Amino acid sequence: MTAYLNGQFMPLSEARISPLDRGFLYADGVYEVIPVYSRCPFRIDEHLRRMQSSLDGIRLPNPHSDDAWRAIIRRLIAAAEFADQTLYIQITRGADLRRDPTFPKGVAPTVFLFTAPLVRPTPEQRQSGVATITAQDIRWARCDLKTVALLPNVLMRQLAADAGCVETIMLRDGFLTEGSASNVFVVKDGIILAPPKDQRILPGITYDLVLELAARHGAPHAVRPVNEAELRSADELWITSSTKEVLPIATLDGQPVGHGALAGKPGPVTGQMHAWYCAFRDQVTRGAGA
Ligand code: PDD
Repeated sequence: MTAYLNGQFMPLSEARISPLDRGFLYADGVYEVIPVYSRCPFRIDEHLRRMQSSLDGIRLPNPHSDDAWRAIIRRLIAAAEFADQTLYIQITRGADLRRDPTFPKGVAPTVFLFTAPLVRPTPEQRQSGVATITAQDIRWARCDLKTVALLPNVLMRQLAADAGCVETIMLRDGFLTEGSASNVFVVKDGIILAPPKDQRILPGITYDLVLELAARHGAPHAVRPVNEAELRSADELWITSSTKEVLPIATLDGQPVGHGALAGKPGPVTGQMHAWYCAFRDQVTRGAGA
C-alpha cells in the first residue's frame, strides 16, 4: 500500500485516474516532494505551508486540514516497507466530464500521494561534486508556485542528461535563477550568496534551511541577485533540494568550479554546510522517529 488516491490507500500499480483529469489535460495542479528519514517526514510543516501557497496561487481550495494531511501522510509512511522515503503529493482541479479551461463547478479535486524509496546522491557524487550545464530559463513568470506544469523543467533536465550532467542551472536576463529541480548557492570570497525568493524561483524548503543554518552558525551570507559573471567565477557552487540535500557542483559547462588547488573539487564552505545540514536533519528525524 504505497499510494493514496481520493480517500483510498492502495498499491501504486492499482491507482487510476480519468483521462479528463485537469492535471492531465491542463497541468492544472500542484505538488510537493517531502523527504522521509527513518519514517519521519522532514520539515513537514514547511512543506504543508508551501503547498498551501501553491494552492492559493492557482486558486484551488485545500481539500484537507493540516491534521488530515498529517494523518494520510503518517499512514502512508507507516505502510511502506522502507524507512527512508520520498513522499509525493499531487492535487489537481479534478476530472470534469468536458474539456473547458474555466474552473469546473462541483468537481472534487484529485488527491494523489505515493511514497518510494529515497534516492540520495551517491557517495561518489558527494565526494567529487557533480557536473552541471547552464541554459536560458524558458519558464513562466510564476516559478514560485510548485505546479505540475513541469515540461520546461523536464526539457532542461534532459539537456543535462544528454550532456552527461546531473543538473541544468538556469539564467534569466543575465542572472542566476535556479536548477531544473533544485536551488543554487554561490560562494564568493567566503560569503554564501543566494538569489532572492521572488517569482523567478521556487522557495525551496532546503534553501530556507541552508540560510537558517548559515545564520545560526554565523556564516557570512547574503540574499541578492547573482549575475552570470559571479556564477562563472564562483569559488564554490552547490545545489539544494529535498532529495539532493546539499550537493557540491564540480563543473559548470565543462569548466571546473573554483580556483587553484580546489578547482573542480568541493570546497570548504560547501563541506561545512553539508555537515551542518546532516547534523540538523539527524537531530530532528531521530528525535521524532524514535
Ligand atoms: N524539486 N527548484 C525547483 C524548480 C524544484 O523543483 C525544487 C525541488 C527545488 C528545491 O526545493 P526543495 O528544497 O523544497 O526540495 C528548487 C523536487 C525535489 C522535485 O521536483 O522532485
